[in-house]
Amino acid sequence: MATTTITSPEPADLINPLTAGTPQSLIPQPCVLVIFGAAGDLSWRKLLPAVYNVNVDGLLPSNFAVVGFGIGSQGDPDAWFRQRARDGVEHFSRQRLEEGHWADFARCLFYVEGSFDDPEAYDRLKGRLEDVDAQFGIPGARIFYLSIPPQMIDQSVERLKAAGMVRPADEPRAYTRVIVEKPIGRDLRSAREINASVAHAFAEDQTYRIDHYLGKETVQNLLVLRFANSIFEPLWNGNYIDHVQITVAEEEGLSRYDEAGKMKASRIGYFEGIGNLRDMVQNHLLQVLCMTAMEPPWSLRPDVVRDAKSVVLRCLRPIAEADVEASVVRGQYQAGDIDGVDVPGYRKEVADFFESRHQPVPDPITTETFVAMRVFIDNWRWAGVPFYLRTGKRMPKRSSEVAIQFKATPNILFNNHPDVPLEQNVLSLQIQPEEGLSLRIASKLPGPKVRIYPVKMNFNYGTSFGGTTPEAYERLILDVMAGDQTLFMRRDAVEAAWEFVMPILDHWEKLGGDGLQPYQAGTWGPEAADALIEGDGRRWRAL
Ligand code: BG6
Repeated sequence: MATTTITSPEPADLINPLTAGTPQSLIPQPCVLVIFGAAGDLSWRKLLPAVYNVNVDGLLPSNFAVVGFGIGSQGDPDAWFRQRARDGVEHFSRQRLEEGHWADFARCLFYVEGSFDDPEAYDRLKGRLEDVDAQFGIPGARIFYLSIPPQMIDQSVERLKAAGMVRPADEPRAYTRVIVEKPIGRDLRSAREINASVAHAFAEDQTYRIDHYLGKETVQNLLVLRFANSIFEPLWNGNYIDHVQITVAEEEGLSRYDEAGKMKASRIGYFEGIGNLRDMVQNHLLQVLCMTAMEPPWSLRPDVVRDAKSVVLRCLRPIAEADVEASVVRGQYQAGDIDGVDVPGYRKEVADFFESRHQPVPDPITTETFVAMRVFIDNWRWAGVPFYLRTGKRMPKRSSEVAIQFKATPNILFNNHPDVPLEQNVLSLQIQPEEGLSLRIASKLPGPKVRIYPVKMNFNYGTSFGGTTPEAYERLILDVMAGDQTLFMRRDAVEAAWEFVMPILDHWEKLGGDGLQPYQAGTWGPEAADALIEGDGRRWRAL
């Protein structure tokens, strides 16, 4: 996204002649991608398939390899890792596994077995990286992807540093970068601690805090839509916009069961005690809000864009503890059915998970799986415009969008029938599953009378551009290789987002389960969420 031209420090043999003249900041540079927690779920489902896809698309430099690091391999570590990666690609890849491409990809996958707290494991890792460098002609450049629980970050970066694997930030070819996965902490204090420990080993411009929502095409398209078209920006303010709704609805719950009712897979171990405010709102929804509401940056340089986003976070009107009940609704799903399939409630999933591990079941279980809230951005552009955010698990379907709801026309011409109010214009940006946008406008129904009917103008990515849209992780990993931080969260933004949600978390902590609203799985959340927006004379959009 950044367009700054950087003079290439590459020797001639590392420059791809086809990219000559392209700003170097857009070109992925040779490196080893080192995945910490490579045996884990994220690596299997998202990271390895993402790297496979960018390899198939010819976007990787030829001097590239992946080294997995973690515990859990069986037999020959490299063979095990390749098999694991193959399985991930077969199940989750955007493009089907093709044997020729697979063979090309598999030869650059390696695995080092070791515990994150064992200094000797880091020595082994270092030795292996040097071998891989020599084999692939990689100039010592490394990207460390920390796909590990937040409590392990501190010791991992310390050990990396102690093992001499972190090079200075101004090293151009043998660069070292670190990718930090969310959650960055579980509250403001722990986020600050994590940021401080990462900063102890890595400079800010070596640090890439990932929020994969920023890598989604439609979220990026928000910038293009707003700033590459002349028709939207003049209307993009409280003079014309009544309110904005940001919805991220997930159909999935936290666990999967087989037909016999036995738990097959579960994220309860991570999610219980965390909840949707920390898991979705603090990061994904607030980042999407920033992209929607930011001022036009004066350039696309990473820090200029990130400054503009940070301003939005700083302008969020704090929700004091005393106002939480009036502005925020939290819910937890109960048993229900989705598409005719019975699904259990959250509490049963928690009980099944802990019982299967012979561990005590938490009591009470007050973690929220749904959040709806009304927020305001106190600046000139958005004065008085509510932003309604909602996100929940076990909703009727997977569907996410940003909807810009424009103000009604004056009640003079067509808008004066009290029983049939005109529908307001809505610009809806669909993030997933169908990526695209639609504009709802009022139109005359053909015939002698003036009868008005809302119609939609639609743009769909798939239909217009064909092919499959790259996964967010594909784009983001390439950006790290290119050294472009635009789509990554800066330290101040992460902390500002935590500051905003802290009073809500504190308030809920004091209340325990009081005020937690049940909702049936397969519905759009608790009734209190409807009351929140309907009390303002508005309605949630039907998705
Ligand atoms: C993750 C959350 O960050 O995002 C998950 O931890 C959530 O709980 C996921 O399911 C949603 O991502 P996506 O891309 O499927 O919308």
